[in-house]
Amino acid sequence: MKRIYSEMPESLKGTYADYSRNFGFSWKEFVATVPSPLFLVTTYKSNGLPNACMQSWAAFTSADHGKGFYAILASVNKRGHLYQTLREQQEAVINFMSADYHAACMATIRNNAFEADEIKASGLTVEKASRVNAPMVKECFMNLECRYVWEKEIVPGDDHVMICLEVLGVHIDEDHLEDRTGEEGLLYNIHYQMNPEHVMKTGHDYAAVLQKKIDVMEY
Ligand SMILES: Cc1cc2nc3c(=O)[nH]c(=O)nc-3n(C[C@H](O)[C@H](O)[C@H](O)COP(=O)(O)O)c2cc1C
Repeated sequence: MKRIYSEMPESLKGTYADYSRNFGFSWKEFVATVPSPLFLVTTYKSNGLPNACMQSWAAFTSADHGKGFYAILASVNKRGHLYQTLREQQEAVINFMSADYHAACMATIRNNAFEADEIKASGLTVEKASRVNAPMVKECFMNLECRYVWEKEIVPGDDHVMICLEVLGVHIDEDHLEDRTGEEGLLYNIHYQMNPEHVMKTGHDYAAVLQKKIDVMEY
């Protein structure tokens, strides 16, 4: 039997799922628990220093009859450095980290000062991109060089905005050419699962790797 949840259940009231509305999260994220890819977006700030921003509300898609590959950053905070730098520079790199570098990439959130080289301050290394004026993170096994295409508010007047970036080129570490999934591969962000009938524990989210492949289609 299925149960439907359209209003916040009583059991979630007062939990993190309720409180995190103040940071822009709907309680439905903690009930639906849909994973999204986790990555670090790097740009240059107007003072020439590298900016780094963890992102996970996102999707990747082809468009224009397969001529282009695009990243849709589904919800970028307009008050953050990423938004400002993207508007100024129109170029960025999307860096995918393996689990080994998750902690270092997360450290960029603490090292968020405008005057900081956020990549170096987090123990990571800047590499030069080949097509765009944006820093790449050497330790990340895959880097997508991107250019800004458009932005749109999901709801008019929102403080977050959806941004479309075109992927111009893909850098892949040789050790990951065969496989970019599994324990050494891409990370996914998963919101903390809450049982809407009976909340035992509460939390924000966690990073996960792909654990099992099913029904592999080969052509
Ligand atoms: C796992 C994780 C995922 C995040 N996803 C997003 C996101 O999708 N959109 C967003 O605006 N901020 C997201 N954030 C928050 C930003 O990474 C954080 O506010 C950052 O310090 C902003 O950097 P900036 O000032 O360079 O933009 C996320 C943070 C974490 C830890």
